[in-house]
Amino acid sequence: MTPMIVDHPLLQHKISLLRNKQTGTKEFRDLVSEIATLLCYEATRDLPLEEVEIETPITMARTKVLAGRKLALVPLLRAGMGMLDGMLSLIPAAKVGFIGLYRDETTLKPVEYFCKLPADIAERDVLVLDPMLATGGSAVDAIAQIKKHGAKRIKFIGLIAAPEGIKALHEAHPDVDIYIGAEDECLDENGYIVPGLGDAGDRIYGTK
Ligand code: PRP
Ligand code: URA
Repeated sequence: MTPMIVDHPLLQHKISLLRNKQTGTKEFRDLVSEIATLLCYEATRDLPLEEVEIETPITMARTKVLAGRKLALVPLLRAGMGMLDGMLSLIPAAKVGFIGLYRDETTLKPVEYFCKLPADIAERDVLVLDPMLATGGSAVDAIAQIKKHGAKRIKFIGLIAAPEGIKALHEAHPDVDIYIGAEDECLDENGYIVPGLGDAGDRIYGTK
């Protein structure tokens, strides 16, 4: 159940800027997008390649291109939307689905309010996007929903995870690989990741 922690110095630096409570909304949003691009680079490392022949200005060459594996991105609303453009900047042909859910503040259980996935999601490799993996409840439910639509190859991409969330996600979906920027210490009594970065959705959209 070891998650892939992407320890690239640029990514680690940007996560530290995100954690700082002085970081304002615009900078926070830009950083989430940039970090998503760096995570995308790592999470797509196993995409298959095939050889093609092309003509360069100098000569004919055998070279490699992506072997047509189809991808889908599924940001979890709201905060996952902050990662979407950064991911699409590297994989612009990916289709995009949306799952809307929020954590009930008392029970900490996810409440789903929206689901719209690509019709052919069953044939696609799916990258689920959410900056925060706290109790894991939101990711576990969203991935169950995506599996119900037939998807079989799914990865979870997040910025910061609590050990509790990693454990819950792995126990519910052991087939799902987890890519994150940092594994933090624990959850506090309100289900926030410690040290974390606060409420990701509120910080991306300036709603608090
Ligand atoms: C946040 C976050 C995750 C969820 C993580 O969303 O973006 O979706 O909490 O918590 P969990 O692992 O304990 O389920 P939130 O419910 O705050 O909704 P929002 O993105 O609309 O702000
Ligand atoms: N959701 C967030 O946005 N932040 C946390 O720390 C936990 C859940």
